Amino acid sequence: MTDVVVAGAGLIGLSVAWRAAQRGLSVTVVDDAPGGGASRAAAGMLAPVSEAGYGEEALLRLCQASLERYPAFLGELAAATGRDVVLRPAGTLVVGFDDDDARALADLHGFHVELGLEVHRLTGREARRREPSLTPRVRTAVHVAGDLSVDPRELHPVLLAAAEAAGVRLVRARAAGLLTGDGRACGLALEGGGEVRAGAVVLALGAHSGALPGAPTVPVRPVKGQILRLRGAAGLLDGTVRALVRGRSVYLVPQGDDGLVVGATVEERGFDATVTAGGVHDLLHDAIEVVPGVTELELVETLARWRPGTPDNAPVLGSTDVPGLVLASGHHRNGVLLTPLTGELVADLLVSGETPALAAPFDVSRFG
Ligand code: GLY
Repeated sequence: MTDVVVAGAGLIGLSVAWRAAQRGLSVTVVDDAPGGGASRAAAGMLAPVSEAGYGEEALLRLCQASLERYPAFLGELAAATGRDVVLRPAGTLVVGFDDDDARALADLHGFHVELGLEVHRLTGREARRREPSLTPRVRTAVHVAGDLSVDPRELHPVLLAAAEAAGVRLVRARAAGLLTGDGRACGLALEGGGEVRAGAVVLALGAHSGALPGAPTVPVRPVKGQILRLRGAAGLLDGTVRALVRGRSVYLVPQGDDGLVVGATVEERGFDATVTAGGVHDLLHDAIEVVPGVTELELVETLARWRPGTPDNAPVLGSTDVPGLVLASGHHRNGVLLTPLTGELVADLLVSGETPALAAPFDVSRFG
């Protein structure tokens, strides 16, 4: 018997587990492939505004609050493990090519200014001074200075090490169902037999959170994203670059000494993990349109995984109608960004039984 069992050892599940263990709870995490889901595919942009849509102000505030926590979060991880995770500070440059793009970027800039954020409109020439590898066809840009990025593949093992150092037990098995007794969640059944009994269960299964047998249906669906990893990009880009190319969004995120992540498709295809010729073609085509030098890089990996999407693109955090069952899912495009804050908020709830104010707008009851 453990105080808490967390289903899912992606970034979100581990963050919850680590924070809960730090607060004195005994915690077990169940996952057959820790970090093998969205955490493995994510590009690691920490970019609340660049990812936000109009009308998503509550989500934006949550994302900003998590972004603010990132430096301290990584500092605590370093103190706990002796391992540093690099936080890249160069911001996001959103570039445009034609009049339509210029209008869209002017709107985006206005939205940032309304929110009191530090953003700068740049001419094409100024954008290229910042990122010389951009195509000369760039005519206009917006620079979001406060955006950061991190490599989720570097972060995940460090977070796992910190969680284990804090006493979290990892069970390498698939969560096959929710156990209930007297109307309460009381653990997880494991695929292949066995179970973990617990006082509370946290559902952090990413896109798989929607339909755990025995649990109530959660409005989370898989939103497929195909992503590319390239090598040989040392010095190519300083920070993240985003653009719309013929109506398709593309982003290029430098990672490590010479890595580059190019993403991502957005597809409603259920749990289809196929990397398609069309997906790879579009991503490479669009990336090369924006940064022609991408053509010289080595393509080292293609991957498809699923964002945990919800009807309003915001996460589901907090209690459910089943006492003892807590949700930490639905992070859609912002899982890496929301990792520090989700861990903190869900651990608060587990310890106090009260929904923290920041989490309240993201209660699953908002969907009726
Ligand atoms: N946050 C990037 C994506 O969802 O593609």
